[in-house]
Amino acid sequence: QASAVIPLLDLAQRQEGWVTRPAIEEIAVILDMAPMRVLEVATFYTMFNLAPVGKTHVQICTSLPCWLRGSNDVVRACKEKLGIGMGETTSDGKFSLAELECSGACVNAPIVQINDDMYEDLTGGRMVEILDALQAGDVPPHGPQIKRQTSAPMGGPTTLTDLDFAKS
Ligand code: FES
Repeated sequence: QASAVIPLLDLAQRQEGWVTRPAIEEIAVILDMAPMRVLEVATFYTMFNLAPVGKTHVQICTSLPCWLRGSNDVVRACKEKLGIGMGETTSDGKFSLAELECSGACVNAPIVQINDDMYEDLTGGRMVEILDALQAGDVPPHGPQIKRQTSAPMGGPTTLTDLDFAKS
């Protein structure tokens, strides 16, 4: 049953907003594991929050490819727009900011993960627009924020161009 520890930690986090100590203890009971084994998993994966975060958790990738493509501007835009620093939550509990290590989406750098969604090909200006929309209660479309087909070259596909799916 140990293989269920990650799904149960994820479920607990979705129910409570973060992984609490009582949740860890309950998962250990359900899975017949030592609580320390559950805590080890929870601390290993950065997807698990071991302290409260905002309802909208904004995680900015600052690893090398994203940094080379302008993550500093995205970080600055978030800090100025929300008035908080990294690892902090707004006083109304609605937004929190965190740094994210490479998520493997470098081709669309710089990227930001907002709750379960990835926003890609960002600029500082586009980040402000996204935060504006979120503050107004809207959910802007995630994925590439420029005219690009998923992670295809920015000028359009360069191979398989005679196939129908490459034209969509
Ligand atoms: Fe940001 Fe890889 S460096 S996704």
